[in-house]
Amino acid sequence: MSTRRPRGSAAASAPEPLGALDESGRRARAAHTAGEPVVEFAEATPYEQYVGVRQLQALVRPVTDHPAEPSFLVVTQVMELWFTLLRREWELAQRRLRDDDLDGALAAIRRSVHHLRSLDASWGSLMWLTPAEFNGFRDQLGEASGFQSYEYRHVEFLLGLKAESVVRPHRGLPAVHADLLRALADPSLEDDVLTFLARRGLPVPAEILERDRSVTHEADPAVTALWGEVYRDPRPGNELFTLGEALSDVAEVFTTWRQRHVTAVRRSMGAKPGTGGSSGLAWLERSAARVVFPDLWAARTVI
Ligand code: HEM
Repeated sequence: MSTRRPRGSAAASAPEPLGALDESGRRARAAHTAGEPVVEFAEATPYEQYVGVRQLQALVRPVTDHPAEPSFLVVTQVMELWFTLLRREWELAQRRLRDDDLDGALAAIRRSVHHLRSLDASWGSLMWLTPAEFNGFRDQLGEASGFQSYEYRHVEFLLGLKAESVVRPHRGLPAVHADLLRALADPSLEDDVLTFLARRGLPVPAEILERDRSVTHEADPAVTALWGEVYRDPRPGNELFTLGEALSDVAEVFTTWRQRHVTAVRRSMGAKPGTGGSSGLAWLERSAARVVFPDLWAARTVI
């Protein structure tokens, strides 16, 4: 890495630019320290400047002394970071598809599948949470609920799960609200894939390409049939089949995350109403049943 931007920082101390160092610089430094790591720094280490550990730690602010709460808070924060990373990957995949760069889009989508697996694995740090432990800090959460996660809504919108109602809670943060409204109206990753397939000469109906992007796309017989045709040749050289499988991986692991959320709720609070005001389990089960990339799943039936 040869160029670096100065570090932005919300902390009081002035951000120091990270010094760029190339391979020959690293060799010279290793010779100077006889191969040992550098241990002398006048200010915060370059690692601290890059990662911002103090800022991260300052964000771990439990609202009770209950020993179970830090896990709940940190896992939630970690999941928010995975949502951000997923959003970046899928927005990049959209740009690559618009440039007809399928390899670039596939690289981003494949990376995202690994991120999704890590997101899903994060449930492991909460699966021990008993109802009594959750009750130990739940009241103090007030009306706070993951339902109010705007980064999760970006993830859903990119996957084509659109709803105006989930944008409304964010009117109090105008920039976040405007960003979500834009994402609601913009094409999802699924829309960009269909537009890409149309440019490749596949018979995507005009009404699908010109549809209102702010509503969820349901499985369409013509789109299902064209994926069915793509899937008749399941060899690695069939790049559209490879794209279909990468998107199926995304849909599968995302669905797994949602199902494990339902299980975490069932395990830690049963069928009690949620802090966000919903009926809880029953509401979540309905929400988790919504299908991501419906044509790709329906195609399995027509092959
Ligand atoms: C065991 C711990 C958890 C419980 C008991 C739980 C409970 C719930 C409940 C009851 C809802 C429905 C809305 C409501 O009325 O509150 C909900 C929604 C949601 N929660 Fe959790 N949650 C847990 C952990 C998490 C974590 C760690 C995240 C990560 C950010 C998260 C993200 C979400 C999201 C995104 C929704 C909205 C889902 C949708 O719209 O389909 N939850 N949660």
